[in-house]
Amino acid sequence: MLESALRRYWHPVAVSDEVTAEPTQVKLLGENIVLYRDAEGLVALRDKCVHRGVALSGGCIRDGLLMCPYHGWQYDRAGKVAFIPALGTDGAIPSQARVDRYQVRDGYGAVWVALETPVADMPPWPDDDWASDDWHVFMVGTWTWQSSAGRMLENAIDFAHFNFVHEGFTELADGPFIKPFEVETTDDGMRYAYDDSVLLRDYTLHLPFTLHDRKSVVAPSGGVTWSEQGDSKAGDVTTITFIASPTDTAETLIFVWLSRNHSFDTPDAAFGAGFHEVMEQDRIVVEAQDPAELPLDPREELHLKLADSGSILYRRLLRELADRADIAV
Ligand code: FES
Ligand SMILES: [Fe+2]
Repeated sequence: MLESALRRYWHPVAVSDEVTAEPTQVKLLGENIVLYRDAEGLVALRDKCVHRGVALSGGCIRDGLLMCPYHGWQYDRAGKVAFIPALGTDGAIPSQARVDRYQVRDGYGAVWVALETPVADMPPWPDDDWASDDWHVFMVGTWTWQSSAGRMLENAIDFAHFNFVHEGFTELADGPFIKPFEVETTDDGMRYAYDDSVLLRDYTLHLPFTLHDRKSVVAPSGGVTWSEQGDSKAGDVTTITFIASPTDTAETLIFVWLSRNHSFDTPDAAFGAGFHEVMEQDRIVVEAQDPAELPLDPREELHLKLADSGSILYRRLLRELADRADIAV
């Protein structure tokens, strides 16, 4: 099953700044998780009290322990119940009095959780975006869509819809006819590029749900895209990174970052301005897809050999990921 495979990857679940000493609830793969920070760092536990199933995120931190709001059982950062008020200080705490603890970390301005031991690290960026002075990267924001992460990410790698869904925004400069392009498999995903004579769009996908859409201006006269302000010139690169976090089978929390090697004097907010409109255009078509889950069997839905070659490979790679998880179980 794809879901078993997804449990073994890191997924972003919250914006780092929004996770504080106050317990808060997030969701990943249908599971509610309580997150908070203590003196030692981040804590992520199953958000369901072992006693009567109440969400622990509704409780508070008492003496460094997470206290359930119902009968006051107190959990330590490993998920073990350390104190049950009804038993008093000398009471023997049952050994089953614990909830699952998950691996959790900060990265790229987000908090990431892996429900089981991860098989891969957090995804890399295509250039030295985070460390090099030649690049400036910032998180544009997060969006919640009522669709699956697979549908969302497939939309992000699909440029054949630009001239219909994003008229006047991200249209292919040379029209909707799709010219030959090569899709290749990489160690942890896939890659392809498409040149519309103004922009070279270089797509790098890291399984399961990370996409870097690296746009380089190739027209000698320069070009302007919806995500760029002012005069772009040949050599300017803007990378938009989408990570789809599967909160549930038909709900996705989308994180978007933007990285650029130009226009450092322009405020970040100016780059994020057109994003909301384009994301909204995509949300409407993606939420209208039936079923909400991405069909992984190639016999489902109808594919165009060239124009859909990215989606065809993406579905195959997800299917292989799911098959490998089944073998490992
Ligand atoms: S439900 Fe949590 S302490 Fe009773
Ligand atoms: Fe789109």
